[in-house]
Amino acid sequence: MYDVIIIGGGVIGSSIAFQLSKRQYHVLVIEKDEIGHKASRAAAGMLGAQNEMENNGPLSSLARQSRAMFPALATELKSLSGIDIELIQSGILRVARTEEETNQLKYAAERQQKSAENATWLSHEQLKEKEPSLSANSVTGALYMPNDGQVNAQLFTQALAQSAAKLGADFLEYTDVQQFLFEKNRMTGVTTKNGTFLADTVITACGAWSSRLLEKTNLSLDLYPVKGECFSVYHNERLITSSIFSSSCYIVPKSGRRLIIGATQKAHSFDDSVLLGGVHELMTNAIHLVPKLKNAQWEKAWTGHRPQTGDGLPYMGEHPDINGLWIASGHFRNGILLAPITGLQMADYIEGKPVNNTFRLQRLSQKEVNL
Ligand code: FAD
Ligand code: GLY
Repeated sequence: MYDVIIIGGGVIGSSIAFQLSKRQYHVLVIEKDEIGHKASRAAAGMLGAQNEMENNGPLSSLARQSRAMFPALATELKSLSGIDIELIQSGILRVARTEEETNQLKYAAERQQKSAENATWLSHEQLKEKEPSLSANSVTGALYMPNDGQVNAQLFTQALAQSAAKLGADFLEYTDVQQFLFEKNRMTGVTTKNGTFLADTVITACGAWSSRLLEKTNLSLDLYPVKGECFSVYHNERLITSSIFSSSCYIVPKSGRRLIIGATQKAHSFDDSVLLGGVHELMTNAIHLVPKLKNAQWEKAWTGHRPQTGDGLPYMGEHPDINGLWIASGHFRNGILLAPITGLQMADYIEGKPVNNTFRLQRLSQKEVNL
């Protein structure tokens, strides 16, 4: 018997487990694979609160709050788990390659500055000075967002899970939750092939797989996978200091002269394979931006499945018909960035604080009613 069962040990489930364990809840995380081995391991780890979010859009304030949590969280996780999540605060450069992109990014710089965000348009010359390895011919300038940092996504997920375990959470791997148990409309637990586990609060944090599991409760969520392919290389020079983001690829400089280059997008695909076509396209675009990448040494390639929703916003709220069954899924391209605030807010909801209407599950049907 647990206070809370969390289904899914990705970055979202692990962050919620960490926050609830800090509040003395007795938590069990049930993971069908290994902790952090799905989308959360595939991520490049960018914290693109400005780069990835529409300015003043519904997610932007949450994303900025979450980004601001990283420095203190990195210290806390290091002291609890011993894991350094490799927080690097050297910004993201969104490069422009056409006149249209140049105008869009200059406008984005102005809007972000009006929202008191640190954002600067760098001319071609300023950009060359900042990042000399960028190709002179391929870019006209860039929007520099110095506060959009990055972490090692894999280590971050492990640090959250191990810190939660230090605080008393239990983790069960290789265990697939098959059914929800409820009496009348109240949650009582879950069943797995390894037995039944009881709790009157259950949180589904299965990323792209959440909708499949929740179909068992007659809930049809508009949540689906978007497959992404990435690869990594090593270069004996430190080629770039900030992450470079263009409309055709991104290049993220990691510790130890490693670089992650991503990422493709294919909606509604649970395919696990890495296709040569995707890697070839990314490679060509990345070398076009940073020609010295031609001399980089290959490390590996991988895929992951981003959990996307119909309206692009995550689901964070309670099941409309079953008390005690909660959902936290659908963070699409930004689950690493949004994990700290998601953990905090879900723990608040479990403690009875009011749920944010923007992300609750009923928002779609409510919108329809309002029309
Ligand atoms: P997952 O990590 O997929 O975890 C869900 C877990 O649930 C899985 O481990 C799965 O095995 C488990 N599960 C499923 N069904 C069951 C069941 N029935 N029983 C038990 N367990 C179950 N985000 C960023 O912020 N920055 C980035 O730079 C970034 N880059 C990305 C690059 C790529 C290529 C991809 C694919 C994603 C990227 N993301 C990035 C997005 C980020 O990875 C996701 O938003 C985030 O990992 C989602 O976390 P999650 O915990 O919801 O899902
Ligand atoms: N946020 C980067 C990606 O999802 O590929």
